[in-house]
Amino acid sequence: MAYNLVSPRFVLVGGGAVNEVASVLQKFGLSRPLLVTDAGMAKSGFVNRCLDPLAKAGIKATVFSDAVPEPEDTVVTAGAAVVRRGNFDCIIGFGGGTSMDTAKAMSILASGEAPMSAYKVPFQADQAKLPVICIPTTGGTGSEVTRFTVITDTARGEKMLIAGLGALPLASIVDYELSFGVPPRTTADTGVDSLTHAVESYISRRANVISDTHALHAMALIGKNVRAAYREPKNAAAREGMMLGASVAGMSFTNSSVALVHGMSRPIGAHFHVPHGLSNAMLFPAVTRFSLASATARYAAAARASGFADERDNDDKAANKFADGLAALNAELSVPTPRQYGIDPAAWEGKLDLMAEQALASGSPANNPRVPDKAEIVALYRQVWAANA
Ligand SMILES: [Fe+2]
Repeated sequence: MAYNLVSPRFVLVGGGAVNEVASVLQKFGLSRPLLVTDAGMAKSGFVNRCLDPLAKAGIKATVFSDAVPEPEDTVVTAGAAVVRRGNFDCIIGFGGGTSMDTAKAMSILASGEAPMSAYKVPFQADQAKLPVICIPTTGGTGSEVTRFTVITDTARGEKMLIAGLGALPLASIVDYELSFGVPPRTTADTGVDSLTHAVESYISRRANVISDTHALHAMALIGKNVRAAYREPKNAAAREGMMLGASVAGMSFTNSSVALVHGMSRPIGAHFHVPHGLSNAMLFPAVTRFSLASATARYAAAARASGFADERDNDDKAANKFADGLAALNAELSVPTPRQYGIDPAAWEGKLDLMAEQALASGSPANNPRVPDKAEIVALYRQVWAANA
């Protein structure tokens, strides 16, 4: 079967690389950027890490700092109006997945007249008004190299997956030094998100030889560095490994897919405002146990690559060690259950049907090695309610 391979045209990687941002723009003849970020980045002055090197090169950026976590369609709509009104030739997404996904969606939305919901999968969002340059500061989503953006439909309470070449950045700058100040909770959540990307890409029915290569490499980087980055925020080697791991995982799943964890995770984020990586972590051990028997050799390889098992373990043992290892990792990273997170039990139970429908509609569960029906998804949601093990 044929498969697609996509990638940004240019990716600059390394400590201090953000200082080269002007030359990256100039490579493509770009000089009038709209910089998209969040209020915290703007207020703290952290955004100057990007604005200063631009100013030094004589490039003045306009800043749009309204991006919000679990990016919302209302913000994207306002941002797209700014794009249409201004005389910009590119958009820079500077920040976590929040800023990058908002920047990508703004460019897609500004390319036409339709509302954001018109662009969700299965629509192919291949058009965008302006090229996007992504500069991640957390090391997690991999959005800087993917053809995806996830936007919340605020009226319907749904996290929409938007996929296509319109969401693929023209270029990105991957500079781990930007992640030194990320707090432990966010480090853990974005780190588990990266690991989920690599693993789901690898066990996906849409995996291919290119996505496999990136997935195994990303698992090794993340498995080796996630605990140290969580415990020691200034550990440069761990930060470098995590930032690179996030991008390599992104290069993998953009050419394969995510699967059941992501399919079930988006509705938890939409209805209960749980950060994306955290809802992934809540689901990851149980969904892995559900899926293990349908792809034992693949889960075993994932376990060995990420350090949860070794070469002496046979496939059955290694695959089981992977599920156990994910639960242990959750404990080490202080991942709460949905109940511990403070979600109201009646609200959780009341949404399960809708969440299962939304998970299935996203298409991601269909990529899972064991494809669940609605009742099985509801059962999995009930299982993770009180236990991550
Ligand atoms: Fe993700």
